[in-house]
Amino acid sequence: MKNNILVIGGTGKTGRKVVEKLKALDYPVRVGSRSASPSFDWNDQTTWTNALEDIEKMYITYQPDLAVPGALDAIEDLIKLAKRSGVKKAVLLSGKGEREAELSEQVVIHSGMDYTIVRASWFMQNFSESFFLDPIIAGHVALPKAEAKVPYVNTDDIADVVVAALTNEKHNGQLYELTGPRVLTFEEVTKEIAAAAGRELQFTPISMDAYVNMLKQANVPDDYIWLINYLFTEVLDAESNNVITGDIEKVLGRKPKDFSDYTQETAKSGVWNKVSAGIL
Ligand SMILES: NC(=O)c1ccc[n+]([C@@H]2O[C@H](COP(=O)([O-])OP(=O)(O)OC[C@H]3O[C@@H](n4cnc5c(N)ncnc54)[C@H](OP(=O)(O)O)[C@@H]3O)[C@@H](O)[C@H]2O)c1
Repeated sequence: MKNNILVIGGTGKTGRKVVEKLKALDYPVRVGSRSASPSFDWNDQTTWTNALEDIEKMYITYQPDLAVPGALDAIEDLIKLAKRSGVKKAVLLSGKGEREAELSEQVVIHSGMDYTIVRASWFMQNFSESFFLDPIIAGHVALPKAEAKVPYVNTDDIADVVVAALTNEKHNGQLYELTGPRVLTFEEVTKEIAAAAGRELQFTPISMDAYVNMLKQANVPDDYIWLINYLFTEVLDAESNNVITGDIEKVLGRKPKDFSDYTQETAKSGVWNKVSAGIL
């Protein structure tokens, strides 16, 4: 008998792939998101009960990030309700090097439910499905912390680890730190994307203040600017966050995808050759 699984954020960068893979394995899957039916909205707890009905396991991706104020309370409330509803296991997506996110990890770890924590480094897909895409389309990437080296991880690998955690009890009680096999600076990333996309991309190192001002001028909401500022300072400043781990290979028995696999696959989609829509 295969468990009913709720995938919160089931149309997002990792959740979408988790849903596809679970369905391919014939698991009954429910997407948890505002547009799903029944809907699930982090900002409206009245939607949570229906989304959790008859669910035995769940994958939690919080919006917009476990580091934001309010995330801890929401995770506490969700876990309480999930236990009351009979959910037996939670797999939580967390961020490597985010101290605030670790508070939510602790809630899941001490919930009394089976759990697996998947603590991921920055996603490669941030450059094609998130906030680093627009500057690439515009042809000019201007970012602070130019010296920072990040072991970007592919969301394909994250989804494979999450599916393993949801479907195999040997991953209960484990905390996995997922990174790619190589660290890259923003300038190196820009060069690799330019080569794969067959176009010129300029990289300019700027200060954190200049970046924040640029975001303000582009009318990026204040709470989003707060989050970007947090991620650039908290995550990129910590020396330990450059460390490459072997957890993907440990769980999956294969090497993690390299950034070059990502650029080759993504270039084929044409996403980096679209016409510029904004300056962010
Ligand atoms: N990006 C990174 O580099 C990185 C690295 C490590 C960890 N993380 C963690 O990844 C998590 C995000 O996961 P992800 O990138 O897979 O997802 P994502 O792509 O950011 O998520 C989008 C999904 O969330 C849903 N959603 C948006 N707002 C919602 C709301 N208010 N209530 C319920 N659902 C909502 C969307 O569907 P609807 O629009 O239909 O609601 C969609 O399914 C964050 O907690 C972050 O801390 C990210």
